[in-house]
Parts: sequence; C-alpha cells; structure tokens
Amino acid sequence: MVIYARYKLLRTIMNDSMKEHWNEIYTWLETDELGWYEKIPEPSIKLLSKCHIDKDEPILDVGAGASTFVDYLINQGFSNIIAADISERALDTLKERLGKEKASQVKWIVDDITQPVHIQNLRDIAVWHDRAVLHFLLKESQQHKYISTLKKVIRKGGYVIIAAFSLKGAKKCSGLDVKNYDQKMLAKFVGEDFRLIEYFDYTYYMPSGEPRPYIYALFQKIKLD
Ligand SMILES: C[S@@+](CC[C@H](N)C(=O)[O-])C[C@H]1O[C@@H](n2cnc3c(N)ncnc32)[C@H](O)[C@@H]1O
Repeated sequence: MVIYARYKLLRTIMNDSMKEHWNEIYTWLETDELGWYEKIPEPSIKLLSKCHIDKDEPILDVGAGASTFVDYLINQGFSNIIAADISERALDTLKERLGKEKASQVKWIVDDITQPVHIQNLRDIAVWHDRAVLHFLLKESQQHKYISTLKKVIRKGGYVIIAAFSLKGAKKCSGLDVKNYDQKMLAKFVGEDFRLIEYFDYTYYMPSGEPRPYIYALFQKIKLD
C-alpha cells in the first residue's frame, strides 16, 4: 500500500520528460522497492558466464539504474565497468550503495541511449548488457539509434545480453508502455552480424510478488575480417 501510494504520488508529479520520469522514480522509491530490483541478478550472471572475455575488458551496462549487476561485476574483479543511464539519480543511488572506493572503479555516463552523446564515443565494448531498457523504446527512430550505437561500440566477437519483457509479459512498466519481445524478434533486431548463442524465458518476481515474464538472450558479434 505504501509503495502504491508513493507511486500514485509519483505519477501526479511526473512530467513528460523521460529523464524526469526516471529521476522521479529513483528519488521516491528505495532500490529494493523498484519493480525490477534483484538481490542477485542471476540470469544476467548466467549469460555473462558464457562470455569468453578477460576481466579488464569493457563491460557496458546500458540503463544500469541502481542495478546489483554492477556490484556483482566489481566483486568478481571486472575492472573496466561502464554504467550508463538517462537518470543521474539512478546512478547516484548506485554510487552511494557501492561506496567511494568501489564507485571509483566504475566509469559513469549519464546519457540517453535514444540520443546518445557520450555512449557513442565508446569503442571495443566486450559485453553490452541491457536489462529492461530496450523494451521502453517504442519508436522506430529510438530503436534504430539504439542498435546503430550498439554496433558502433561493440568489439568484434563481443557479446550482447538483452533482457526484455517477453510476449507473455506485462504491457507496461513504471507507468510506461513497453514493446514485448521473443528471441526471434531480438535476433531480428540485432541483425545478421550477431549470432544467437543462448536464450531462455525467466519469470522475475517483483517485490510485490507479482510475476514478470522476461526473455533473456545472449548474442555474439560475428568476427568479420
Ligand atoms: C526498468 S529499469 C532497469 C534498470 C536496470 N537495468 C536493472 O535491471 O535494475 C530501466 C532503466 O533504464 C533507464 N532508461 C530508460 N530509458 C533510457 C534511455 N533512453 N537511455 C538510457 N537509460 C534509460 C532508466 O533510467 C532505468 O534505470
């Protein structure tokens, strides 16, 4: 009830801007109240374990929010982590949780993946990780910007992990409409330069106990010489 009341309040004060929308959410809700909070990001960890990369290679978490995936990467000794999000509030929350020392090991980027200014300057990304971001991009122009940026920054043989609401999943999240995916749609989206390595359905349970079916997919960029 408390979460719902705060959410209603949030809805009344939010404006049209996506940045404002997400900033408001991360201002009003505690991390473990977020409808996508994971104590341990197990499905992402599972797919990351299939990526043959060195610990010092760049891993980009797009729309990282306050995700515990970043904590996991640091704790595992990955030393080239980039956390990007449209919401500086989200990244501030994550920084605060990590504490100064761990936060200083991460490169922080406040950017909109549909109008990237900084992300598009990255290169040789070994793993592009996106949990629950792509599905918010409803316009073709936004999806196009996302995939053209991904293709620009990923290295040859690099990996792409995408988790999105599945076709059986919710049609909305945090008050926003979403586009639902299956592995075939994701494969079509990333295109022929990427090989689908693994995919699975995964039911995530929100802090409220509500199920949220996701599709997780791992792709690898085909090495072209
Ligand atoms: C549902 S949350 C998922 C957060 C995180 N990936 C996780 O699994 O905990 C979606 C995240 O995407 C971010 N986001 C939404 N639209 C974005 C955009 N256009 N560019 C970058 N980040 C965006 C939001 O601020 C939010 O942190």
